[in-house]
Amino acid sequence: MFLFILVFIICLIFILAPFILIRFITSTNTDKNGNYLLVIAHPDDECLFFAPTLLSLHSNTYVLCLSNGNNHRSDELRRSCHQLRVKDFKIIDDQINLKDSQTVSWSSDAILGHVKNSVRQWNISTIISFDQYGVSGHRNHSSIYYALLKFSSTSQIHFLSLQSIPIYRKYLTLIELLRIYFMSNTVKTKIFILPSKDNLIPYKAMFEHRSQLVWFRYLYLLFSRYIWINDYKIIY
Ligand SMILES: *[C@@H]1O[C@H](CO)[C@@H](O)[C@H](O)[C@H]1NC(C)=O
Ligand SMILES: *[C@@H]1O[C@H](CO)[C@@H](O)[C@H](O)[C@H]1NC(C)=O
Repeated sequence: MFLFILVFIICLIFILAPFILIRFITSTNTDKNGNYLLVIAHPDDECLFFAPTLLSLHSNTYVLCLSNGNNHRSDELRRSCHQLRVKDFKIIDDQINLKDSQTVSWSSDAILGHVKNSVRQWNISTIISFDQYGVSGHRNHSSIYYALLKFSSTSQIHFLSLQSIPIYRKYLTLIELLRIYFMSNTVKTKIFILPSKDNLIPYKAMFEHRSQLVWFRYLYLLFSRYIWINDYKIIY
């Protein structure tokens, strides 16, 4: 019984302390001018993984989502993007080239075709997306990274990839925030911290994705570091 209460209290501290600590951390990033395009694989990636970035950028942000074109999820994405102050979004329903299948990798050409259209349409100067591991090892995520790598040689666009974090750090948000608080001057990568005035918005955005709210998503929302911190590698 005692042990149970102890564990409960520790969990509570880990969930609540970030809300206080975040007030004392100011984001060190200096964002470039120009419009930002976030490329995601599924509706809800934008708030599960990228909310701190979208909310701390002062530029216009746009979202390109490469799958799940049914009306229902498209509607959820629209409302979530609205919460996250995204200027506009596009959802691609390409059942042939970007099929939702366990075995087929998304083709780089198909992905790049859509990315190029968006870059032109929205006058994008920086693209944000996953890295090669794609946060959760999801193949759809890493396909986007590899496609965007090919884009580099042919354009003036910048690309920032969201660094995947080992699992033992992924859910210890409090420790990660403390680490950033004490080391903020020495951090080399580009870091976006959730602005403290917006600290409920990632939850509001996720609640717009009603069809995705299974029990483990709640756990994710309570503990995941990606709700609070995004660090990037500058690829080009
Ligand atoms: C596109 O964005 C750049 C800044 O990245 C800006 O200088 C340029 O004027 C923009 N072009 C249009 C047509 O808005
Ligand atoms: C693409 O995403 C779908 C839906 O999440 C998943 O079932 C499928 O395995 C993924 N395909 C690849 C190649 O990653």
